[in-house]
Amino acid sequence: MDGFTVAIDGPAAAGKGTVSRAVAEHFGFAHLDTGLLYRAVGAKVLEGMSAEEAALTLVAHDLENDQLRTNAVAEAASKAAAIPAVRAALVDFQRSFAMRAGGAVLDGRDIGTVICPDAQVKLFVTATSEVRAKRRFAELTAKGFDVTFDDVLADVEARDARDSTRTEAPLKPAPDAVEMDTSTMDISAAVARAIELIGARLGA
Ligand code: DC
Repeated sequence: MDGFTVAIDGPAAAGKGTVSRAVAEHFGFAHLDTGLLYRAVGAKVLEGMSAEEAALTLVAHDLENDQLRTNAVAEAASKAAAIPAVRAALVDFQRSFAMRAGGAVLDGRDIGTVICPDAQVKLFVTATSEVRAKRRFAELTAKGFDVTFDDVLADVEARDARDSTRTEAPLKPAPDAVEMDTSTMDISAAVARAIELIGARLGA
């Protein structure tokens, strides 16, 4: 199973994190939320560091910052993620993670297209921007953040636009990715479908 990689891409709050965690737990694979790498870079930019320097000097401890889930950090992450030197600095870490013994699940925007184009299973998880903004709004208010739905929707749409139109590694499905729309499909159904696809590939 070494080098068995599952690539899960999609826009913000589509459910890829939930699907990734569930399949990693089901199969005993390691899981890397690659958005956290960009968020950690974004957090350092907000503290005044240049994005390139932040990406080049990133250490595991930076991923433990409890501010990484805020909207301000997401926005800074999305901006930093459009810089080719930032993306380049994070490639090796992601590829080594993908090759670790026992299998790995990586979720992000460009895993199936750029980081792991040879992944054994590729999923592209989407949902309408309204559905995603509703989920993000519920998540943020549950954590006590003072936000309005309209602001969250505007943030989700601005981030989608930036992530999909950048020249370097834009958000898009790999040609061989299986697409799942979680606005019409329950997350538990998406998890079941992912487990079925991965199981079939492991058995092949
Ligand atoms: O998945 P997320 O919302 O935590 O990601 C935060 C930002 O990081 C996202 O707006 C774009 C960027 N990102 C990326 O460009 N490539 C990835 N593989 C993961 C995230």
